[in-house]
Amino acid sequence: MYKIRLSSGHLMPVLGLGTWQAAPDVVTQAVLSALNVGYRHIDTAYNYRNEDAIGSALQQWFKEGNNREDLFITTKLPHVGNRPADVENYLNRSLSRLKLDYVDLYLIHMPFTFSPDETGDSPAKNEDGTLVLNETDHIGVWKEMEKQVNAGKVRSIGISNFNKSQIERLCNIATIQPSCLQIEMHAALQQKDLVDFCKQKNIAITAYSPLGSPGSKQHFMNKYQISLQSPDILHSDTVTKLAKTHKRTPAQILLRHIVQLGAAVIPKSSNPARISENSKIFDFELSESEMEEMKHLDQGEKGRILDFKFFKGVENHPEYPFPKAVSN
Ligand SMILES: NC(=O)c1ccc[n+]([C@@H]2O[C@H](COP(=O)([O-])OP(=O)(O)OC[C@H]3O[C@@H](n4cnc5c(N)ncnc54)[C@H](OP(=O)(O)O)[C@@H]3O)[C@@H](O)[C@H]2O)c1
Repeated sequence: MYKIRLSSGHLMPVLGLGTWQAAPDVVTQAVLSALNVGYRHIDTAYNYRNEDAIGSALQQWFKEGNNREDLFITTKLPHVGNRPADVENYLNRSLSRLKLDYVDLYLIHMPFTFSPDETGDSPAKNEDGTLVLNETDHIGVWKEMEKQVNAGKVRSIGISNFNKSQIERLCNIATIQPSCLQIEMHAALQQKDLVDFCKQKNIAITAYSPLGSPGSKQHFMNKYQISLQSPDILHSDTVTKLAKTHKRTPAQILLRHIVQLGAAVIPKSSNPARISENSKIFDFELSESEMEEMKHLDQGEKGRILDFKFFKGVENHPEYPFPKAVSN
């Protein structure tokens, strides 16, 4: 398995299994399927509400004689716990659900903070339906993240959905530099500027929604009654053509493209055949001119699928990371 050396010194497998929208009753089997075909990197988050079921899969795998040291497990500090006093508490909950002593990578999931409701898991709402925003102390949170490394509960720390100035601010005060930035990145949102910036800072990139998150349309309709606009990159003409040329599937072309741009990929699937398909991306290469063709699919900000505006009112948070209005 190909790996990226993080600034922490640890190695991160280039391919991981995404698990957002993988319900607890299917994710155990999905993780076992992935481990059986060679995945060693699993991406989850406190917010995905499936850490417990992932922990069960890992326990089963260890019982079969496999080693914890061979795995790379990522989880994330939730938006409702994004304050210094809460870091250790939410990490402990994730560790206990995952049934692990440490995670390989702990990420600040989002740069903004909400007040938790009475369950502690979801954002509290104002009377008008907007979410209750809290001030976010990135520096204080980062200092607590560093303490978790020193306590041995986390091997590497990083961020997700942060923009350049937020990253810069952290790097300026960090004793332990962020190892990884996890961002939306796919053919329609290639993120060249942010990727180049992170390269200079020795921050590895993990690309989320690398297939264009085709399951999200239904998810957002069911959960928020929102009609999500998302580019259908799996069916784009260029990708279909390259799939034919290389005798590969469109998903394999999309994943290979991102890997050749230097990022790790974490495609989500709960389907054993697709989990296996998504892992077969290391035995072919897109040529320079094919990479150039893929470049033309980049729509910049217009290609972004997850702008988080389904969190009603989030764009009014001072740390909202994306442009508020996207021009056509
Ligand atoms: N940090 C963050 O804020 C953040 C945000 C979003 C996502 N993520 C992480 O990134 C992971 C991946 O992103 P994502 O889940 O948004 O989207 P994705 O991986 O781009 O797409 C997943 C969807 O594609 C389908 N799929 C998988 N393999 C396929 C194939 N070979 N051919 C056709 N369809 C296929 C899956 O359905 P089946 O399951 O039915 O195969 C699922 O509906 C997440 O699961 C999560 O771990 C992080």
